Amino acid sequence: MNLLITGGLGFIGSNFIRLLLEKYPKFEIWNLDAMTYAGNPENLHDYVNHSRYHFVKGSICNYELVDYLLSEYNIEAIINFAAESHVDRSISNPDVFVDTNVKGTLTLLNAFKKYRHQVQKYVQISTDEVYGHLGFNDPAFTEKTPIHPRSPYSSSKASADMLVQAFFHTYQLPVVITRCSNNYGPYQFPEKLIPLMIRNIQADKPLPVYGDGSNVRDWIHVTDHCRGILSALEKGTPGEVYNFGGDAEVSNLNMVKYLLKALGKGEDLITFVRDRPGHDLRYAMNFEKATKELGWRPQYDFDTGMQETIKWYLEHDEWVEHCITGEYLEYYSKQYGTKLT
Ligand code: NAD
Ligand code: TYD
Repeated sequence: MNLLITGGLGFIGSNFIRLLLEKYPKFEIWNLDAMTYAGNPENLHDYVNHSRYHFVKGSICNYELVDYLLSEYNIEAIINFAAESHVDRSISNPDVFVDTNVKGTLTLLNAFKKYRHQVQKYVQISTDEVYGHLGFNDPAFTEKTPIHPRSPYSSSKASADMLVQAFFHTYQLPVVITRCSNNYGPYQFPEKLIPLMIRNIQADKPLPVYGDGSNVRDWIHVTDHCRGILSALEKGTPGEVYNFGGDAEVSNLNMVKYLLKALGKGEDLITFVRDRPGHDLRYAMNFEKATKELGWRPQYDFDTGMQETIKWYLEHDEWVEHCITGEYLEYYSKQYGTKLT
């Protein structure tokens, strides 16, 4: 099956491509990625010459390019990972989030509509953040929870989800939406909580915990998410949404303490900083529908996944340092008033 995967040089997309190239020989992959600050060619450097992998540098907002790829390579399914993905960046610069996450998704859908005779499935990679946030005692989000995004990032992702659903209802296109909780694992850009904290702990630098650190995230290993996406591609019912979660709710403060303990450092590095504006309190996912309809459930237990992940970052110092480009340094110093290196 010929797949167009967008955003495949990012964290989750590159893990997904690696999974498919290593374990599923029936897929041939075209990876369309704009190579933003988060799109790192090193994430897939082992596969550049793989016979079933083709890289195309370009944006999902470029209709002519997407049209060309769908027709030239007989694409049979599209999986859209491409996005601006960092909430903090969306607070300081929302515009690019609308460009890529909303207009880019619309561009893909328009091209999909033209090639509906050939493309059998479109999978939109969405997020639990579209549901808004929960109080500490609220039940977890289900697919029936009304969407109620609160950040520019989650609003752009929710807008994209609504366009995807509109193309199902209006044009009967076979689309599926997956919504997942916070991923952890190898190749995550070190502006996100876990790799950022590991890097700072190694360097004995302050660990910036937003607010009082009580905000809760549900953590899932990226490989479990990727297995879920594959099951949605193969078994998902058109028009449906599937939640994925890791069944591992942890407060940010406890996550930082966990990392400090694993790396043998003291808690004096913890530094409480100004809270993120509009900071979502808690996310939690009910994924019973995915279990029932897709036969999916997370396989990693939290400790095993985290220990593997911490080891990976410690062994991939160089990868982390290469991510820290001039652009990222500039952003970081604006955000925290300090230099990262
Ligand atoms: P990421 O930021 O690591 O990667 C995004 C990738 O998209 C990069 O390779 C970037 O170059 C590419 N990209 C950005 N704009 C593009 C454009 N206009 N055209 C083509 N490529 C473009 O993000 P990620 O963490 O891998 O997230 C992937 C998807 O999963 C996103 O849609 C995100 O909303 C969703 N998601 C992420 C998480 C998480 O915990 N990271 C959880 C749930 C859902
Ligand atoms: P993040 O990895 O940015 O993911 P998201 O905002 O999509 O959940 O952040 C995870 C949590 O960690 C979130 O509640 C914000 C918090 N956080 C900090 O406390 N300090 C940090 O330096 C970062 C990057 C995040």
